[in-house]
Amino acid sequence: MKKEAARRYHELLREVRRHDHLYYVEARPEISDAAYDRLYRELQDLEKSHPDLADENSPTKKVGGTPLASFRTLRHAVPMQSLNNTYSEGELQEFLDRVAKNLHGQAADFAIEPKVDGVAVSVRYEHGRLTQGLTRGDGEKGDDITENLKTIRNLPLSVDGLPKVIEFRGEVYLPEPAFAALNRAREKAGEPLFANPRNAAAGTLKLLDSREVAKRPLAVVFYGLGEVVGAKAGAQDELHRQIGKWGLPGHSWFRHVEGADGVRKAIRDLDKDRAKFPFATDGAVIKVNRFDQQRVLGSTDKAPRWAIAYKYAPEQAETRLHAITFQVGRTGVITPVAELDPVQLSGTTVSRATLHNFEEIARKDIRVGDWVTVEKAGEIIPAVLSVNLKRRPKDAGPIRPPARCPVCGGPLRKEEVFLRCTAPDCVGQLKRRLQHFAHRGAMDIEGMGEVMVAQLIDAGLVQHLDQIYGLTEEQLAGLERMGEKSAANLVAGIATSKRRPLGRLIFALGIPQVGAVSAEALARHFGSMEKLEKAGVEDLVRVKDVGKKMAEEVAAFFREASTRRLLESLRKAGCNFTALPGELAVHGGPFSGKKFVITGTLSAPREEFTRRIQSLGGSVAGTVSAKTDYLLAGEEAGSKLAKAKGLGVRVLNEAEFERLAGPDSPAR
Ligand code: IVH
Repeated sequence: MKKEAARRYHELLREVRRHDHLYYVEARPEISDAAYDRLYRELQDLEKSHPDLADENSPTKKVGGTPLASFRTLRHAVPMQSLNNTYSEGELQEFLDRVAKNLHGQAADFAIEPKVDGVAVSVRYEHGRLTQGLTRGDGEKGDDITENLKTIRNLPLSVDGLPKVIEFRGEVYLPEPAFAALNRAREKAGEPLFANPRNAAAGTLKLLDSREVAKRPLAVVFYGLGEVVGAKAGAQDELHRQIGKWGLPGHSWFRHVEGADGVRKAIRDLDKDRAKFPFATDGAVIKVNRFDQQRVLGSTDKAPRWAIAYKYAPEQAETRLHAITFQVGRTGVITPVAELDPVQLSGTTVSRATLHNFEEIARKDIRVGDWVTVEKAGEIIPAVLSVNLKRRPKDAGPIRPPARCPVCGGPLRKEEVFLRCTAPDCVGQLKRRLQHFAHRGAMDIEGMGEVMVAQLIDAGLVQHLDQIYGLTEEQLAGLERMGEKSAANLVAGIATSKRRPLGRLIFALGIPQVGAVSAEALARHFGSMEKLEKAGVEDLVRVKDVGKKMAEEVAAFFREASTRRLLESLRKAGCNFTALPGELAVHGGPFSGKKFVITGTLSAPREEFTRRIQSLGGSVAGTVSAKTDYLLAGEEAGSKLAKAKGLGVRVLNEAEFERLAGPDSPAR
C-alpha cells in the first residue's frame, strides 16, 4: 500500500512538473486546465495522507505565506544594470565596431537571445537553496520579494549541484493565456484592467500577500548572473546550457554566432520565432559571448559595453472589421468599438479596438467589412491605424452615427467630437455609473462588480443610483446565483460604504472631469457636500489644481435637478457628507509645503499615495522640475527618474517614503 502510494506520488510529481514545463516554458499545454487541476489535487491529497512522502520541492509548496507589512530594501551584491537600445542595423553595426575596437583586434563571438518584456529580478541560491529574491529597484538596491518569488511554479526552491553562492538574473512574466484570463476575471469583477502582461507581472510582484501572488501563475526565465562564489563560468552560451542542466528556467532559444552577418541573421530568425514564446518580447539582446572579453570591455555607469538590445518595430497586423458596436459610458458618451476577426498581435489575441469617436471613423473612412491595420504600441488597447482600400468589399457602406442611444433609445446630443445620450434614466449610463460608484477607488462596495450591477438593473431593482441603499436581503436573495449569505454580505457592504470619506463620495458621483485626486482636493477645500453644492465657478477655481473647465463642469453638475434629487436621497440614506479629520490638510505635517512627483509601479494605486502626501501637507505634480522636492519612484521608473537624477532631486523608494511619512501617517 505504502509502496503503491510512493510510486503514484513520484509519478504525479513527474507529470505535474512536465505539464508546468509545457505550459510555462514551451507554451504548448497538452492537457486542459481542469485535467491539470485533477492531477494537482491528487498530488495534494497524497501529501496530506502520506506526509512522510512529501517532497520539499513539490509544486504544491508554492502557496505563499503570511502577508508582509512592507518590503525591505536590500543592496545588490552586484549592481543590476540596464541595456542600451538600438533600433536600426546602422546602430547595430556601430556597436559591433565599438566592440572590435575596444578588444584591440581580438575576434569576438556573440550570443543572441530574446529580450523578455517582463520584470527584472535577481534570485540568490546559497548551498543549493533559494535564499533571496530582489527586484531591480534603482539597480543598487531592490525590494526583498523572496516570499513572492517562492510561489513561482517554474522556480525550484532547491537545486542540486549549484556553486556555494549563485545569483541568477532574469525576468518574471505572466504567460499570455494567464494574462488574458486574469483580465477577464477583473473585468467581470469591475476591477481596473492591467494594460499589458508586463504591467500585470509588476503589479503582482508588488503584492504584500504572497498567497495572492500564488494565485497568479507567474513564471521566470534566467539569462545572466550576479554574485557567484565557488565556481567560474566561461561564456554566455555555456551559461545557457548550464542553467538548463540544473533544471532551472532558461532560454531554450539562443544562438551562438560569429561576425556581423551571423548576428544579423540570428536577429531575423528570432523575430520569426518569438511569436511562439509564452512571454512577450520586444527585441533581441546581443552579448559578447566570452566572459573574459566582457570584463575587458567593462561598463559605463548605466549599461555594459559588451551587450546591446536591438528593438523590433511595434507589431502591426491586418484583419477584417466585421462589425461596429457602441459602448455607453457613465456620462452618456457613446464610443464606437471595432469588432475584429481575431488576430495575433505582439503575443496577444486582439478582437476589438476602440475607434474613439465618429469623426475619427469619418477621417479614416473606416467601413464595416474593411480590412484594417491594427497596431499595439505598448498598451493593451490597440488602435485601428488605416484601411486597406484595395481589399474593400463592394458593398461596404460608410458607418453612420446612431440617431438615438443604442442602449436606451434616448436622444443624443453632439458635444465637440462626441455623441452623448441625454436621457436621464438611460440604463446603459446607469450601469456604468453604478459600476463607477461601487468601484474600489470610489465607494468600494465589495461584491458589486459588473455582473451584479447588471443583474440589479436588469431585474428592475435599481432604477436610480441611490436605490442601492434601500435594497434588502430578501430582494437580493431572489437574484440568480445569489445565496442568503452573499445577499447578507452585499447588504452589509452597501451599508459600510455610507461611512466612506467625503472625497470618495465626490469621486463616486462621477462628475465629468473630476478624478480621485481632484475629488480629494474638493473635499479638503470645502469640507462638506453642502458647501460644495453651493460653490460657484469663481469659488471652485480657487481650489488648488482645479481649472476653469473642471470648475464649470462641477458647477453645472450641482445645478442639475437630478443631482439635487440624488444628493437628497444619499443624505437621507445616511451617507457621510462631511470631510473626515484625516481628509483635511495637516498644516505643519511632515510633508508641509513639499512638492512630490510620483513615477513607476508602486504597491498601491498612485491616488492612494497622492492622498497620503496631501493629507500630510504636501502636494503632487505631474512633471519633475527644479522645484520638485521629492520623486517617489516605484519599479521600472523611466524618464522621470532620469530627469530627477539630472536635476539632483531627492529620489525616494517606497520604504524611504514610509520612513519620512512617519508612524502617525494615515493608514493606507
Ligand atoms: S542582460 C548587464 N538579457 O531588459 C546586463 N537583459 O532594457 C543587463 N532583459 O534590465 C541585462 N531580456 O531587465 C539581459 N536576455 C536578456 C534580457 C534582459 C530582458 C531586460 C533586463 C534589462 C532590461 C534592459
